[in-house]
Amino acid sequence: MKLFIDTANIDEIKEINEWGVICGVTTNPSLIAKEGRDFKEVVEEITSIVDGPISAEVISLDKDGMLKEARELVKIHPNIVIKIPMTKEGLKAVSVLSKEGIKTNVTLVFSPNQALLAARAGASYVSPFVGRLDDISNEGMRIIEDIIQVFNVHNIDTEIIAASIRHPIHALDAAKAGAHIATIPYKVFIQMLSHPLTDSGIDKFLKDWNVLQSK
Ligand code: E4P
Repeated sequence: MKLFIDTANIDEIKEINEWGVICGVTTNPSLIAKEGRDFKEVVEEITSIVDGPISAEVISLDKDGMLKEARELVKIHPNIVIKIPMTKEGLKAVSVLSKEGIKTNVTLVFSPNQALLAARAGASYVSPFVGRLDDISNEGMRIIEDIIQVFNVHNIDTEIIAASIRHPIHALDAAKAGAHIATIPYKVFIQMLSHPLTDSGIDKFLKDWNVLQSK
């Protein structure tokens, strides 16, 4: 499973990118708004840090508006992937963009049927939201498993991005299920990295080393 970071915060992206573990970034309008900066400026800066797919989301709700935004966004950098909501108009836009060779990430996917429609419309990626399904007492990870099964049975090459990842168990379960990608917030990367036995192990090694030096 490949790892993307789910943030528009430049410091977070730089830090995790230095670890060498991510190969893409996803943003959404809420994440961009949190940064309080110009949308295109932020996206452009992200493309200068991470050399991989960078999802930038359209705001329009109609096909023509989405297409206009998408065609502007792709001018920023060849790695831009247009994030489009899972609606009728969204599917129409995805269908046109895929014929133009523009990559799309269909977002706000909450069922396997939505994922199938997005894939058939030509989406490069689908983003099922695990955490938001858990929030309403649905088993988010089950949706990921079902989409993987459907795509495997029918040889669909649209990549599945496990999104709305809220904690390390989500990341682990998505990896075990076989999601192609998980897009993970900074906080969860830190949680995945941390282990108390690693910290106490380093303390002990250093203590023992210092005993040797004082002899
Ligand atoms: C995915 O691309 C979204 O940006 C994101 O994963 C949503 O996560 P949330 O449900 O924690 O806001």
